[in-house]
Order: sequence, then C-alpha cells, then structure tokens
Amino acid sequence: MKLTILTLFPEMFPSILNESIIKRAINNNLVEVNLINFRDFATNKHKTVDDTPYGGGAGMLLQVEPIYRALKSIPGSDTALKILLTPQGKLYNQSIAKDLLDNEHIILVCGHYEGFDERVRDYIDLEISIGDYVLTGGEIAALAIMDSVIRLIPGALGSEDSYIHDSFYEDSLDYPQYTKPREFDGKKVPDVLLSGNHAEIAKWRENQKQKRTKERRPDLLKKTQQ
Ligand SMILES: C[S@@+](CC[C@H](N)C(=O)[O-])C[C@H]1O[C@@H](n2cnc3c(N)ncnc32)[C@H](O)[C@@H]1O
Repeated sequence: MKLTILTLFPEMFPSILNESIIKRAINNNLVEVNLINFRDFATNKHKTVDDTPYGGGAGMLLQVEPIYRALKSIPGSDTALKILLTPQGKLYNQSIAKDLLDNEHIILVCGHYEGFDERVRDYIDLEISIGDYVLTGGEIAALAIMDSVIRLIPGALGSEDSYIHDSFYEDSLDYPQYTKPREFDGKKVPDVLLSGNHAEIAKWRENQKQKRTKERRPDLLKKTQQ
C-alpha cells in the first residue's frame, strides 16, 4: 500500500512515522509513505499558496492551483483514491478504515488556515472528517487515518493480527484486560482469567464485551440489530 500526503507542514509527520508499529510496517515494506509539500508547486516567486477569500471574511484560503499541480505530479494519481481532510466530510470510523485498506494508493490532502478554495473539491474522490470539532490543519487527521489503516495491513501488528479483538471491529467495544500483578491496591484480577479454562475465559470475555458496549455505546448494538 502507498500513502501520499499533501501538506504545507511535512515536518509534523516524521515523529509518528519513525516510531513503533508504523515504523516497522514501513521498514518491512508493508506500506510506503510519501510526503509532498504543495508549497513546492506555488506559481509565484514568494511561494505563497494562500490568499484572501473573495467576498471578504476572516483568514486565508489555500488556493486551488498549487494543490491541483501537486496532485498531477504524483505518479498514478489518476487511479489513486484522493481524500480531502475536512470537518465537513464523512465521519471517520473503523469501518471506513477497513474499506480504505482495499486501495493500493491513497492520497491525503491536508487543508490549513480557513480551509481551501471550493474548487479543490473537484479533484477529490472522498472527504473525511475525524470528528465534530475543528483542527488547525488536516495533518493530525491524516496521521489518525494513516495510523488506523496501517495497523490493519496484514502483518503490521506482528504474527497475530490482534486488531480483530479491538473495539469497533465487530460493532462492539473490547473486553476488560489485566496483566501482572494479580493484585494491586486490593484490586484483584478476576478469578476466571487465572483459571486456565479457555472456554470459560472466552465466555467471560464475550459477556463483558456485550455488557461494556451496552453501558457505554448502546448505539453500536443498535447498528448490528438494524
Ligand atoms: C481551521 S480548519 C478550516 C475549517 C473550515 N473553515 C470549516 O469550517 O469547514 C483548517 C483545516 O483543518 C483540517 N481539519 C479541521 N478539522 C478537521 C476535522 N475534524 N477532520 C478533518 N480535517 C479537519 C481541514 O483540512 C481544514 O481545511
């Protein structure tokens, strides 16, 4: 899989890309990540890529031309899935993350300032929001999407693809988990987890999963009943 990020702030990415599971997935050639600064595609000598909005109003808007030129410069951009990060997009969730995995090449376009010229939308396949709040720029949204997709690539999490036990994999939350010590501050690990009885442990976990989802996210259970 290939991920290309169009951003004015490529230096925001390396610290995340050079750590842990993401770093290993890149080193193992499970994913290739390319960062493109669309300021390099500015058409004026001062390399500006933003301007004031027609009709007036606060802030600056990203211009369409540098983004268009940057998109056109990417090999395979015609067939890649081009995603725009915007609070006005489709609300991101685990099911979209799973669907994105089917794409060989995804291009993520990060906005900034007050956003972008509306005509940018004409060169995009999908608009995604990571939540009903407004970020300063699309970089954090792009990183969240990249991270959540990369960990689903077969082999990215190591030998066992443990994401199948994660919250949201099956419209439910994960069950409670414990590790050593057996007792801390008077709080004990549930006996069943120490019993060695795998059938009983699986039953307990399934019950806990249902209970937790019902308490915290009943909307997820309603989804499976639809
Ligand atoms: C300050 S925001 C602009 C918001 C824009 N004026 C609006 O209300 O739709 C700047 C950029 O941050 C990114 N952004 C902000 N919130 C986001 C969110 N919830 N999901 C995805 N991207 C977001 C987008 O790329 C956006 O163009």
